[in-house]
Amino acid sequence: MSNPPPARKVFVKSFGCQMNVHDAERMKDVLAGEGYADTSAIEDADLVILNTCHIRERATEKVFSELGKVREVKEARAARGVATRIAVAGCVAQAEGGEILRRQSAVDLVVGPQSYHRLPDLLRRSDNGARVVDTEFPPEDKFDHMAAPAPDAIRARGVSAFVTIQEGCDKFCAFCVVPFTRGAEVSRPVARVLDDVKRLVDAGVAEVSLLGQNVNAYHGLDERGASVGLRGLVERLATLAGLERIRYTTSHPNDFDDDLIAAHAEIDKLMPFVHLPVQSGSDRILKAMNRKHTAAQYFAIIERLRAARPDIALSSDFIVGFPGETEADFGATLDLIRRTGMASAFSFKYSPRPGTKAAELVEQVPEAVKSERLARLQRLEEDQRRAFNQATVGRVVGVLFEKQGRHPGQIGGKSPYMQAVHVDGPLNLVGRVAPVKILSLKTNSLAGELA
Ligand code: SAH
Ligand code: SF4
Ligand code: F3S
Repeated sequence: MSNPPPARKVFVKSFGCQMNVHDAERMKDVLAGEGYADTSAIEDADLVILNTCHIRERATEKVFSELGKVREVKEARAARGVATRIAVAGCVAQAEGGEILRRQSAVDLVVGPQSYHRLPDLLRRSDNGARVVDTEFPPEDKFDHMAAPAPDAIRARGVSAFVTIQEGCDKFCAFCVVPFTRGAEVSRPVARVLDDVKRLVDAGVAEVSLLGQNVNAYHGLDERGASVGLRGLVERLATLAGLERIRYTTSHPNDFDDDLIAAHAEIDKLMPFVHLPVQSGSDRILKAMNRKHTAAQYFAIIERLRAARPDIALSSDFIVGFPGETEADFGATLDLIRRTGMASAFSFKYSPRPGTKAAELVEQVPEAVKSERLARLQRLEEDQRRAFNQATVGRVVGVLFEKQGRHPGQIGGKSPYMQAVHVDGPLNLVGRVAPVKILSLKTNSLAGELA
């Protein structure tokens, strides 16, 4: 016997990082328990959630232009006699709180990232038209908001899944709002992570990506109350049958210890791809950014990682045009990208954020200089990415197949180095790892054949 169809629908649009994308899934799980079905058609939605990002000015401004459009949908539905509630979630909600209600009168609910488990209650409070704001950081056991929803609401979302193991940040880089929007650094207990991953594996997941704003600062407690680092957690996860691949993101150079480096040599399921943001190659700028590491320390980590796992692929984040950045500072960043043989990178123009130290610095770099530097950095990154992908051609690599390909008879998946790969092959390989000989480089992927 099947359940009657849920009466209400929710539309969620996410901006920002993987943590936000993953949070959106958690919100949908919580709301499924309230009878809300997920929809991708905003006109059908009784509840519209914008899951927002505050990291750069443009990200924040996008939220308000988006809200203008959602307001029109709400008005069109009201003309048909149906009500729509609009909620703002995520990091802009946390940073701006009630100010959002003032700026956009169509918004009913503002909910910060630590309050998603209270969504059902918040919705009930807004039932009679009240406007509700919840941006409390829970005082203790912050991971209440991470509690798994009712077991029947847990759905496998494909072959590869994210699991949050750590949240928040205590590092206060001079440019960054994350410590303000996500609060202090907290790690989830080992048993809860293991539980989540077991459930995912039972539902057919073959790869987990462990998520955290500072994921390698992880220090969760085990059953006996002892602190376990990221290596220890990965070791335990690696014993789970059916789990083929383990990844983690995003790590910080200051927490990259020898244990984690050794794990890359010793644990086969730990994938040889590390996203390790460095931001700049200039020690002067790194200091001004309050990064508390030098370029030399970064090189030393990369060298040790390469010694442990020679085929490791690297990616990073860069900010160009941080206040005071000279052409020589920027040159040092380009040198770092070349010297580390970075396989990919995310790069951004510095954006002053309210409340951060760097926003008060007087030597702001002109917009045109930022744009020009960004373009140069991205050209270099593109060349290196292409060279890295080209070097895979002719090799045999394990591919975890995730889905049907674009063309009939095709299946697609990921190499250990996060490259998209497609081959002609049977659908029953989806969810499994198979060796693939890489034949050629396409625009955004690699073409291969089952080996
Ligand atoms: N450690 C974090 C970083 C989050 S922010 C993590 O888990 O990913 C992601 C990236 O955005 C940063 O690495 C940085 O390169 C960039 N960024 C952060 N604040 C910025 C700002 N004010 N202007 C431009 N880019 C910024
Ligand atoms: Fe932001 Fe720095 Fe914390 Fe990363 S480590 S979240 S860049 S403050
Ligand atoms: Fe953006 Fe918040 Fe992630 S500011 S990058 S959504 S932690």
